[in-house]
Amino acid sequence: MDSYTRQVNFFGNTDPEALVKKYGTPLFVYNEDILRKQMRRVAGLLPNHRFTSNFSIKTNSNMTILKIALEEGLNCDAMSPGEIFVLKKAGFPSERIFYVSNNVSEEEMQYAIDEGVVISVDSLSQLEMFGRLNRGGKLSVRINPGVGAGHHDKVVTAGKKTKFGVAAQDIPKIHEIAQKYDLHIVGLNQHIGSLFMDYKPFLEACHSFLHYAEDFDELEFLDFGGGFGTPYHKLNDEPEFDIETFKAELDKLLTEWKATTGRDVLFKTEPGRYVVAESCVLLGGVHSVKENYGHKYVGTDIGMNVLIRPELYDSWHDVEIYRDGKPVTDGPREVYSVVGNICESGDIVAKDRELPVTKEKDIVCVLDAGAYGFSMSSNYNNRLRPAEVLITSSGDDVLIRRRETLEDLLRCFDV
Ligand code: LLP
Repeated sequence: MDSYTRQVNFFGNTDPEALVKKYGTPLFVYNEDILRKQMRRVAGLLPNHRFTSNFSIKTNSNMTILKIALEEGLNCDAMSPGEIFVLKKAGFPSERIFYVSNNVSEEEMQYAIDEGVVISVDSLSQLEMFGRLNRGGKLSVRINPGVGAGHHDKVVTAGKKTKFGVAAQDIPKIHEIAQKYDLHIVGLNQHIGSLFMDYKPFLEACHSFLHYAEDFDELEFLDFGGGFGTPYHKLNDEPEFDIETFKAELDKLLTEWKATTGRDVLFKTEPGRYVVAESCVLLGGVHSVKENYGHKYVGTDIGMNVLIRPELYDSWHDVEIYRDGKPVTDGPREVYSVVGNICESGDIVAKDRELPVTKEKDIVCVLDAGAYGFSMSSNYNNRLRPAEVLITSSGDDVLIRRRETLEDLLRCFDV
């Protein structure tokens, strides 16, 4: 089996061994070319329409990555005041930020109003709250089209069993509340879920969403959400999300809608994972190799505090082994569980994987770690959050986030 990272020359002028010597492990390593290529793909999704793509920064809010998104012409969606704050620091003006709020306090809603970003509300009660705080204001409402999709129940964000959005049958109530506070519903948004490789449920949801939109006279934009998948089983040749066919089908749907309704609004999408997942690998050090009652383990420093997706959603991440700066692709293989250093028996990055026979001091390279990797990392067990490095388009490595220090663990205490 050849190495994916070698095929795409992921590490440019350097290699995992040199990177680990310089920056330590665990280490998130990004490739600028892959990142920009994905950003351009989403930015160019609907060339025949008025269109902007938002990058969903919950997937990754590294300052350098946000600045690249800004350069590539992406707008962003934010899910919290913290995300708005960071986007502003990265240079995004308010009009390029969309706040997709969910169960926020009055203070948080007021913060977003004061920052001048367009807000989407997620329920009738939050619509009332917005009305009380900002009578006469403009906003968007998140509609739950009744259809969801995603790689796991925990990431399906529309349909009849989720907390998100206003149910379609409550649309008349949206109008009543808007009238009461003289609000202008200038946008509608939806997000059906995360990581679908089949775009048909998404198109089906867009179809109903467009139908609901016809009930709103003041619309300036419609935001269809994100969720476009990336192949996590690339070592087994899983095909990519078919963006070209998706693009053509979505274009057709929107062209027809514009022709039959005579409406012309700005269309938006909100992909996160598709933009950033494949641009990053996570390097970990192998500190032990052991056998317990017939099960073999590769003991690394990639604990669930660093990458929690496998533990939370049983997510699959492909794994490569590097030794002396090169991927190990030949020789004998063994079945191992690749585990971390956290005090939990569920701390397993990759369970029962056939890998090259692995030794202490090898480097484990976990693929597709750019989305919901660092952004979901934590200090559990008082472990330090890792550093992040970018392999630039010229092939050089640049530190884009320093590793935490022990002192960082004390920053919220008076000691
Ligand atoms: N827009 C909204 C309103 C969202 O809630 C999300 C993700 C996105 C856009 C971006 O979705 P994407 O294109 O990245 O699929 N932590 C989970 C995924 C949670 C997704 C939450 N919402 C994971 O690691 O798979």
